[in-house]
Amino acid sequence: MSIVTQKKILDESYKILISESRIQERLQEIGSEIEQACEGQTPILIGVLNGGFIVLADLIRYINIDCEIDFIRISSYGDEKESSGHIKVLKPLSADIKGRHVIVVEDIVDSGLSLQFLKKMLSAFEPASLRIATLLHKKSRMKVNIPIDFVGFEIEDKFVIGYGLDDRQLKRNLRSIYIVDN
Ligand code: IMP
Ligand code: MG
Repeated sequence: MSIVTQKKILDESYKILISESRIQERLQEIGSEIEQACEGQTPILIGVLNGGFIVLADLIRYINIDCEIDFIRISSYGDEKESSGHIKVLKPLSADIKGRHVIVVEDIVDSGLSLQFLKKMLSAFEPASLRIATLLHKKSRMKVNIPIDFVGFEIEDKFVIGYGLDDRQLKRNLRSIYIVDN
């Protein structure tokens, strides 16, 4: 149960989709899966900014093997609610991932266009392996066929906020995930 109430930033119209405790339970399970899948390796987890910063921060604390982190920032939606498919790198990687076991950590995969772009871009650096983890997946919206190795929750086609996910850059600091009803 959350010890923090967030009434000041919660709109009455928001409906809770995934509670803080359920998110943490699921991340713990995914952390164990990653740990097993990466036995004997020192993976590098790449958080996709901005949304992925909270998932990455919580997830690495459920992975009990040595791992590194880095971040990449790409533009996808801007302030819109639909992916344009025109994606730019706003902050490149700092780490050299050649020969490394890489896990990309996303907040949400919607059309999959951002992921398709990222996969192609990161593959060019010749990592030893490239896997994908996402907390949320709107499976019915996928426009491209990309296998996702670790999925937290498959969700319906609704716009969601909280736990890193924003509505026009706000609400990322909500501890649970909510559906914006409009
Ligand atoms: P895709 O390229 O369509 O898969 O979009 C992925 C990105 O769009 C995510 O990393 C999010 O930043 C953003 N996004 C997609 N769906 C939502 C949503 O329901 N709420 C907030 N952001 C979203
Ligand atoms: Mg994202």
